[in-house]
Parts: sequence; structure tokens; C-alpha cells
Amino acid sequence: MSALETIYTRSSCRCFQDKPLEDKDIRTILEAGVAAPTAHNTQGYKIVVIKDEKVKEASEAILSEMNRYSKWGIPMGSGKRSARILRDAPVNFFLFVKKNTFFKAERLPMEVPESYLEYIEHQNQMQSVISVGTVIENMLLAAEELKLGAVCISEISYAMNFCKSYFEDVINLDEYEFASSLALGYKEDVPYGRARKKPVEELVVMHDKQLVM
Ligand SMILES: Cc1cc2nc3c(=O)[nH]c(=O)nc-3n(C[C@H](O)[C@H](O)[C@H](O)COP(=O)(O)O)c2cc1C
Repeated sequence: MSALETIYTRSSCRCFQDKPLEDKDIRTILEAGVAAPTAHNTQGYKIVVIKDEKVKEASEAILSEMNRYSKWGIPMGSGKRSARILRDAPVNFFLFVKKNTFFKAERLPMEVPESYLEYIEHQNQMQSVISVGTVIENMLLAAEELKLGAVCISEISYAMNFCKSYFEDVINLDEYEFASSLALGYKEDVPYGRARKKPVEELVVMHDKQLVM
């Protein structure tokens, strides 16, 4: 498949066969993620891999946190549905973004207004998030190329802050913050429609109004 064919045939898979993935395929997907472009090539992220019987344990931890907080009226409904998608997949990746990857305020040569510091901190965080997004997209495309199913799952973030105990042994959570997860596995043969996308014309604005495509 060409890169463009893979891009156009990929769609999120939320139903997986009860069959473990081969380690070599997991490795190929991870290598594709690591090959992604990141701001300043910092690669300021970590990917925690959970597979097979450990998957249930992780998603149960997330679901029980969600149950705890939904009692307070926090909207966890679709978050719980997403946690169950993770639970029913043979492999989960949890992606964590490094906090404050770029320059620190104290390293600036002169005093800058507080509002500007906040702005650049926000922009730095944006760069980190965009970077992890490129990693995710590479892994989704690699999974498609291998004829595997994958979906990016971020809604569990409502509870991830409270699931620290599950991850703190493998990752320093003072340094890294949860960004997203991925569920991966062999696609279950269920019919589901492809997500409709808006046309280019609706999303693209030609800066030079004379130009048309
Ligand atoms: C950042 C991000 C977060 C997402 N979070 C979830 C999620 O929590 N649960 C879910 O079922 N799908 C999630 N998705 C998948 C989107 O719903 C899906 O990509 C979108 O509906 C378009 O469908 P497609 O991937 O088949 O093109 C997420 C996708 C992205 C990029």
C-alpha cells in the first residue's frame, strides 16, 4: 500500500479479536512512532506498553477511578465507553508527554512580563502535544499497513490524573503527563461506517483569494 492509500483506507477500529498481537508487529508500530517528527527533535514523550492479561488490570483501574468521580457528576459516560474499548483490546499504549520540554523562564536573559511567560509556556505545551500527535498518527498508519486495528483513546484523561499509582512505578509522573492512549489488535469483522470528513473547501482558506485549487 502506498502512504496515501494507507492514509485514505485507515479508520478507527473499536472492536478487536480476542487474539494476542505478535511482538514483532508491536515493535514495528513502536518504531514507526519513534520515527515521527517532533519539535526540535526533542522526542519528549514515553510510551508505556501494556499487553495481554495486564490490559484488563489497567483498564479496570481506570474504570474504577471513573466510577468514583462520576458520582460527583463529572461527565464520564463516553470516557467509560472508551476505557472499555481499551479493556477489550489485546494491546494498549499509554503516551505521556514530558512537561516543560523547552526553555525555562529562569534561563531567559532578561525579565519578561508574566503574561508572556504564560504564553510561551502554553505554546511549548502545544508543541509537545503536536509532537505526540505525530507519533500517534505514525503508529495508526503503521497498524493499518499491517492490517491491524487501532484507535486513539484520549477520553480516559478524565480519570488518568487519579490513576497515578498504576503508572508511577514505570514512569516519573512529576516529569511526564498523560496525553493519550492507543488500543490495538486484530480487527473484529464488524460492519461499521467510515467517519465522514468535511470537504477540503470547508476547512481550507486560500490566503490569496485569487488562488483556486
Ligand atoms: C486526540 C484523539 C482522541 C480520541 N479519543 C477517542 C476516545 O477517547 N474514544 C474513541 O472512541 N475514539 C477516540 N478518538 C478517535 C476519533 O473519534 C476518530 O479518529 C474520529 O471519529 C474519526 O474517525 P476515523 O479515525 O475513523 O477517521 C480520538 C481521536 C483523536 C485524534
